[in-house]
Amino acid sequence: MEINKIKLVNYRNYDNLEIEFNNNLNIIIGDNAQGKTNLLEAIYVLAVTKSFLPINDKSLIKFNNKFSSIKGLLRGKNFEDNLAIILNENGKIVKINDKEIKKLSDYISKMNVVIFSSDSVRMIKESPSSRRRYLNIQISQINKKYLKLLSDYNIILRQRNEFLKIINTSKNSDMDYLKILNDKYVSLSVDIYNYRKKYIDDINSYIGDVFSGIVGIDNIKISYVSNVNVEKDNKNIKKSLISRLDKNLNKELLYKMTLIGPNRDDFYFTLEGKNLSLYGSQGQIRSAILSLKLSEVILFGNITSDNPILLLDDIFSELDINKRNNILKYLDNNKVQTIITTTDIKNIDENTRKNANVYVIENGKIISREIISSRKE
Ligand SMILES: Nc1ncnc2c1ncn2[C@@H]1O[C@H](COP(=O)(O)OP(=O)(O)OP(=O)(O)O)[C@@H](O)[C@H]1O
Ligand SMILES: [Mg+2]
Repeated sequence: MEINKIKLVNYRNYDNLEIEFNNNLNIIIGDNAQGKTNLLEAIYVLAVTKSFLPINDKSLIKFNNKFSSIKGLLRGKNFEDNLAIILNENGKIVKINDKEIKKLSDYISKMNVVIFSSDSVRMIKESPSSRRRYLNIQISQINKKYLKLLSDYNIILRQRNEFLKIINTSKNSDMDYLKILNDKYVSLSVDIYNYRKKYIDDINSYIGDVFSGIVGIDNIKISYVSNVNVEKDNKNIKKSLISRLDKNLNKELLYKMTLIGPNRDDFYFTLEGKNLSLYGSQGQIRSAILSLKLSEVILFGNITSDNPILLLDDIFSELDINKRNNILKYLDNNKVQTIITTTDIKNIDENTRKNANVYVIENGKIISREIISSRKE
């Protein structure tokens, strides 16, 4: 799929911006703090309805304004839709072809994006909650049911936590109610586990081999550290989760909260079997993330039969020229619409530049543009 046009009003440091993207490569050039990341973020928000940064939606509205909007024309294999998201102080609404969409899961599964930014790298070293957030967003983009599942899970989790604060374990009725909560809790937890496990297994089926040639690192894997399924070769995950909850009840009563479940999941990368966040160099970590992103492009493409849009924020300055060219050639061959930012046009060679839309951005405005008209189908 491709985003052909985007229009921003009062978004971050943009008053009004209209920009056209071609189906292949688009390059955004600008000095620091001119709005490059903001522009990619806007495209991401249009797809996912929230930033890739863990921030409040209000930060997206231009200072001293009451609302912000992002509109875009999205073309997929069999559709062409106008997407819009309008944010104000009270919340946000999303629209497809001017019709408001109430069910967020219907909206989020429409436009798929994969982003690589400095935040993707940070995620590796941050707390598990940022990695869970990441997994949740990625899985929601390709599975409509996952978002609903997460919200159902969060409701039961909240109810269970509330109940742990007031439960009287000597009362039969209380223990019966806890059992009902536990049954629901376990069932939703195992569903989430299955989605996450499948996602990570799928990524692992691409990440190792496909990108060793392009990114230059071998033997990379993602390890899922599930808190739902903690045993090897477990035949009945539900049953063992119930019994872990039972065994841990005293501890949960002490802490007055749920200590077991997908709310404690995590994942990490390994390179040659070693945990990358503990032993990896900066360059290895960046390459691992890049491999993850390229794997996601393949995975999303396979699942939805349409490539996602790839947003690459300032990755070129830190990659050697061979890797850059390998990546661009790969994306071009596979018809992935790509939007990249850089502070320095020297990072992009002449030939590549000739086949791209190139925009120079200064202080939230386009100050120069080179648009290629040829559209590769
Ligand atoms: N809500 C907002 N309203 C107005 N301006 C904002 C808002 N949020 C961020 N900004 C401004 O946007 C600018 C940063 O933009 P952005 O992060 O896109 O820069 P960049 O071009 O990616 O820079 P770098 O090369 O340093 O990464 C900052 O000047 C910041 O003050
Ligand atoms: Mg930036």
